[in-house]
Amino acid sequence: MEDILETRVLQADRAAVAEAARIIETGGLVAMPTETVYGLAADAANGLAVARIFEAKGRPRFNPLIVHVTGLDAARGLGCFTDEAERLAQAFWPGPMTLVVPRRSGVPISDLVTAGLSTLAIRVPAHPVAKALLAECGRPLAAPSANRSGHVSPTTAAHVAADLSGRVEMILDGGPCQVGIESTVIDVSGDTALLLRPGGISADAVANALGLPRLASADSAAFDPHAPKSPGQLASHYAPKAAIRLNVTAPEPGEAVLAFGPDVPATGGPVVNLSETGDLREAAANLFAALRTLDRSGCNSIAVLPIPGEGLGEAINDRLLRAAAPRP
Ligand code: TXA
Ligand code: MG
Repeated sequence: MEDILETRVLQADRAAVAEAARIIETGGLVAMPTETVYGLAADAANGLAVARIFEAKGRPRFNPLIVHVTGLDAARGLGCFTDEAERLAQAFWPGPMTLVVPRRSGVPISDLVTAGLSTLAIRVPAHPVAKALLAECGRPLAAPSANRSGHVSPTTAAHVAADLSGRVEMILDGGPCQVGIESTVIDVSGDTALLLRPGGISADAVANALGLPRLASADSAAFDPHAPKSPGQLASHYAPKAAIRLNVTAPEPGEAVLAFGPDVPATGGPVVNLSETGDLREAAANLFAALRTLDRSGCNSIAVLPIPGEGLGEAINDRLLRAAAPRP
């Protein structure tokens, strides 16, 4: 992606936060300080805006993102909270802890935020600027760390500017982050709490709050020596039942077609077009819903027309490649 935007770096006063909220409401990107690291925020309900997050970061994969909200009530509206989840939220929110919970059906969060998963990662940040921006927007904000993919997380506005100038509309400067490392991610979507990523709150503190001797970890040998470590590889990751054929120029008669661009060969089978105009942002925003729609049609095979590999196309093709891979 070219660095073509004029990125404004503003001291995060009330006027700047109000302007940032307008940017987000119109589908733009704002880097905001949180107590852990700076986050790259967009309207979590707006698939095109969320696609821009991946584009700006140059992420070659659609990792699921954390949704930031103002408080526990807002969080309960998006996900289902077990007793354990409630206890952790009461103990550590607002603060550097993210809870992975089952997503409520029908909530207005883009499928791209969850990478098609049925769970949602939610956090209530404590930083006054993040809180002010969330309140001013009045909606959940998707925000990964505001760095280019593969770079370290930014803890000052200058770090963000070095990575993302020309790729985001605004950087809110709220000074250096106090915690300086990312939030602790805990999966409370199942029967036992599971540490997915160590972070700003120690695993011992979490175990303590739950009255447990220690917290099980997703990559501890005790849990499962073969457990995949990246959420992109988790078994729960959405995979269609239909077989998927990539880079198809001539689909079989009756085969379902996942199209991209204006030219779509007719097969008589169901067709979903990721973007009739060949826009990769639109294609990314539509990807997970499109796979579900075709899968629900009961087809046995989905032919995917060629999708260019540059920019967001890399992450789109990565996801399709994994959906096409043989499953256990
Ligand atoms: O402190 C932080 O957490 C910062 C600030 C900006 O909030 N954000 C952050 O986001 O570090 P990111 O995207 O760099 O990392 C999000 C982590 C990843 O490890 C991702 O795999 C995990 O959260 N995650 C998100 N949704 C998930 C889900 N549904 N299930 C499992 N893991 C999930
Ligand atoms: Mg990160």
